[in-house]
Amino acid sequence: MQLFRHIQPLREALASERQKGKTIGFVPTMGNLHQGHIALVELAKSRCDVVVASIFVNPLQFGLNEDWDKYPRTFEADSQKLIEVGCDYLLFPDEREIYPNGMAEQTRVIVPGMTDLLCGATRPGHFEGVTTVVTKLFNIVQPDEAVFGLKDFQQIAVIRRMVEDLCIPVAIVPGEIVREDDGLAMSSRNNYITKDERPKANQLRKTLCWMQEAIQQGCRDYLQLEIEGKSQIEAVGFRVDYLQVCCSDTLTSAGVDDVELTVLGAMYTQAARLIDNVSLTI
Ligand code: PAJ
Repeated sequence: MQLFRHIQPLREALASERQKGKTIGFVPTMGNLHQGHIALVELAKSRCDVVVASIFVNPLQFGLNEDWDKYPRTFEADSQKLIEVGCDYLLFPDEREIYPNGMAEQTRVIVPGMTDLLCGATRPGHFEGVTTVVTKLFNIVQPDEAVFGLKDFQQIAVIRRMVEDLCIPVAIVPGEIVREDDGLAMSSRNNYITKDERPKANQLRKTLCWMQEAIQQGCRDYLQLEIEGKSQIEAVGFRVDYLQVCCSDTLTSAGVDDVELTVLGAMYTQAARLIDNVSLTI
C-alpha cells in the first residue's frame, strides 16, 4: 500500500492507474478502523481494479461541543489493517492540506432540506462539513465508485443527493451494516460506552427490529410505534434523540402509503451518541 500525505503525488499516481485503464474505488474514513470499514474496502476491491482509502478526522463536521479532540486516532493499527485487506493507496492528509485557506473561509457545499432532519437537527452544520469534505475528496481522488456504509443512512442519502444535484461523475455504492455479536452496530464511538452500559447498548438495535417486525405484521400507526419504541429504550436507561419511521428516499416521516421505509434512531449513553437503522419494503 502506498501512503500519501499530500494531494498532488496521489493525483499523479492515480492518473497513471487511469491511463492503464484501471477503475478506481474509494473509501473515505475518519480512521480508528473496525470491521465495518474493512468490509467497505473489501467491497470496493471486489468492484474496482484499484482501491483508495482516506483517513481524515474532519474538524468541519464536528460541532463545538462534540468529540473532535478525543476522537480515537489509531493510525498505525489502521494502516496495518488496510495493508492486510489489500488496499492500494491511502491518503492521510493533515488539516492544512485539506483546508489551506482555513476552515472559516472554506467554500462550502450545502444540501438543503434533508440535512435539517434527524441527525442534522441535533448536529447543526454536521452534514455541511461532511458534504464539503467529501466533495473535496471526490475531486482529489476522482473515483469511479465510492463506497459508504448504510450504518450512516442519512449520510449516504445526503451524498447521493449531492452527487445527483452537482452532476459529480461517481457511483455511490452502499455497504451493509457490520455488527457486534449482540447486534450493536460497529462504530468508533462504541469506545465511549462504559462497561456497565455495554450489555444494554444493543437496545437501539433491538427496538428497531421490534418496530420493523410490527410494521411487517401490519401496524401502520407509526407515531404510536415511535412512542412505544422510545419508552423501551428509556426503560433500560438511555436517552433517545430521535426514533422515526421514514420514507427511505426523502427521510421525511413515512405515511401509510409509503412502501420503502427506513426506521432511524439515535440514542445517548453517558458519553456516546449511537445511531442505527433498519430498512424494509411493505
Ligand atoms: P467514519 O465514521 O469513519 O465512517 C467511514 C465509513 O464507514 C462511512 O461510510 C460509514 O458509514 C462506514 N461505517 C462505519 N461504521 C460502519 C458499520 N458498522 N458498518 C458498515 N459501515 C460502517 O462517515 C465518516 O467517517 C465521515 O463522515 C466521512 C464520510 C469519512 C467524511 O468525513
